[in-house]
Amino acid sequence: MGDMVSMIAHQWRQPLNVLALNLQDLELSIGENSFDIDEMREIIQDSVDNVQYMSKVIDDFRNFFQPDTTKSKFFVENTIHSAINILRESLENFKVEVIVTVDDNFELTGYEHEYQQVLLNILRNSQDAFIKEPKLKQVIQISAKKRENISVVEITDNGGGISEDIIENIFEPYFTTKHQSKGTGLGLYMSKIIVEQHMGGKLIVKSSDENTTVSIEI
Ligand SMILES: Nc1ncnc2c1ncn2[C@@H]1O[C@H](COP(=O)(O)OP(=O)(O)OP(=O)(O)O)[C@@H](O)[C@H]1O
Ligand SMILES: [Mg+2]
Repeated sequence: MGDMVSMIAHQWRQPLNVLALNLQDLELSIGENSFDIDEMREIIQDSVDNVQYMSKVIDDFRNFFQPDTTKSKFFVENTIHSAINILRESLENFKVEVIVTVDDNFELTGYEHEYQQVLLNILRNSQDAFIKEPKLKQVIQISAKKRENISVVEITDNGGGISEDIIENIFEPYFTTKHQSKGTGLGLYMSKIIVEQHMGGKLIVKSSDENTTVSIEI
């Protein structure tokens, strides 16, 4: 139960922040008597999307601890774009460019929402790397390729890499190099369970001085 609460808290952190900011924005525009109806609709829609995401996270974690619900087919390109969309605002704020190349009709069979959570965790780690050490040109490259019986999604960032003395530990639960208020150290641990135990794949992290590449092979 404790693990489940920590994991839900982990996935809720970002949408909760977005909701708080959206409410502040609404309050500000009411206070200034300057509200633009279209802008408000956009803020409300964004908040509804985030609440739906939070609600889905709860369902996902029921599945996480009892992974026996039916798998479905999904287009990886759509899943990648909805993960980017959830992070869009903060990626724009931190001036991170995201380049996506996906093979046509790249389908996977599995738990789409869990897969999306894995993508979100990896993208957030890349974003965090840029926040820690801003770069002149900050790029995340996502490529999805289908080989014979293996599908590979690779996420590469140029955020400075992961140092050799910690790379062995990054999949351990609660291992983090971030401040307590920023990281719980559950992101990669959960992602590895989803990819390897629920989807029968592999999650691999490689790093150099400059880049980190995370591959999801299914
Ligand atoms: N793309 C990356 N660039 C640099 N370091 C990374 C990257 N991805 C992971 N790491 C390192 O691996 C550690 C563990 O990552 P993990 O996602 O499991 O936890 P976290 O990001 O610290 O916390 P949380 O995911 O709970 O916010 C990070 O603290 C960081 O040191
Ligand atoms: Mg993380």
